[in-house]
Amino acid sequence: MPRYAHIVGWGKYVPDKTLTNKDLAEVVDTSDEWILARTGISERRIAGPKESTFTMALRAAQEALEVANIDPRELDLIIVSTATPDYPFPATACLVQDALGATHAGAFDLEAGCAGFVYALSIASQMIATGAYEHVLVIGAETLSRVVDWTDRGTCVLFGDGAGAFLLQASDAPGGVLSFVLGADGSGGQLLIIPAGGSRQPATLDTVTRRLHFVQMRGREVFRFASRIMSKAAREAIRAAKLTTDDIALFIPHQANLRIILSAAKELRLPMERLFVNVEKYGNTSAASIPIAFCEAIEQEQLKPGDHLVLVGFGAGLTWAAAVVKWQVPLPAPPPPRRGRFWRRLRYRWARLRSLLRRLRRRVASWWSRIRREWPS
Ligand code: ACO
Repeated sequence: MPRYAHIVGWGKYVPDKTLTNKDLAEVVDTSDEWILARTGISERRIAGPKESTFTMALRAAQEALEVANIDPRELDLIIVSTATPDYPFPATACLVQDALGATHAGAFDLEAGCAGFVYALSIASQMIATGAYEHVLVIGAETLSRVVDWTDRGTCVLFGDGAGAFLLQASDAPGGVLSFVLGADGSGGQLLIIPAGGSRQPATLDTVTRRLHFVQMRGREVFRFASRIMSKAAREAIRAAKLTTDDIALFIPHQANLRIILSAAKELRLPMERLFVNVEKYGNTSAASIPIAFCEAIEQEQLKPGDHLVLVGFGAGLTWAAAVVKWQVPLPAPPPPRRGRFWRRLRYRWARLRSLLRRLRRRVASWWSRIRREWPS
């Protein structure tokens, strides 16, 4: 019997701090008019000193579990799509797994630039379709404010921070993720790159002085690539789902630039009312932009059961990805029972304590083995 991966939980988190175009104009040579006209962005959110990709991913994940009313111990897998993980390793997904107390879940990070969330969604849906897993948490989370060059007006005006999450659940009912298309063209890797900090150019005083740990972008070329690939990927995913563009109720594109979104919509002959746009509020949050937009589409009651959606992204790599989803959950979703919420909160506290105890146990074990080694026999 075929199995389908349905989105049964969703959540988002954006930092409180807002940086407007006017604020930016005080830091670099730009203006509100230029940014708005060329990108459609008015403001973006910036992570606070205590926030990171992990903390934002965790908040979005907890909200998704809340909506689905699912205990973290039921999770089989956690995938975090990010280009700005807390560390090169361990994976941010492992930090989330630990903090949730998802004791039965595997966890890994996936990096495919701004297309990463749809890449992660397609992997999760296949893990469910094969019968391997029941519940998979897919998160897109980014702290781009820490890797943009705040002296480069060509990039710093574009990006913002945030996180979004989907909880996928196996079901026999047809629907959920119907199709996906993934693509890459590594020959364009230099168009959007953080040149240093990896194994090619590890951090040195020289790389830091030359600002090689920040995003570098050839904007015009990325723009041309994105305008072409968004509609192409969307069309292929729609065809793979055996649908036509007319069947698509809502198009949720990666929120990088309003002009790119409008050009893709024009290519697809989609009217504005079937297009979801929130780039004006958050800028480009990379892998987080599609799930954040999805959550806001739900908040604005733009989805109803039976609707077909297209999620489509493009990004550094170069990469692109599109998926068609049949939405089945009636909205508004009923609030989760209070008892479930209480137990989940308790579980998160227990997860923190458990994590502390495990770290303590490891330290004691290591002391103990040192003492035994050094003890005169
Ligand atoms: N304020 C004022 N002027 C600016 C700014 C700014 N913030 N940035 C650039 N300019 C100037 C340039 O210096 C240039 O001046 P010049 O003509 O004197 O040389 C002029 O504006 C035009 O520059 P362009 O780069 O041609 O401007 P364009 O219309 O292409 O817009 C932009 C630039 C917004 C960056 C656009 O190219 C774009 O959106 N590209 C795609 C970026 C993108 O989506 N990246 C994310 C990919 S996803 C991921 O994986 C992260």
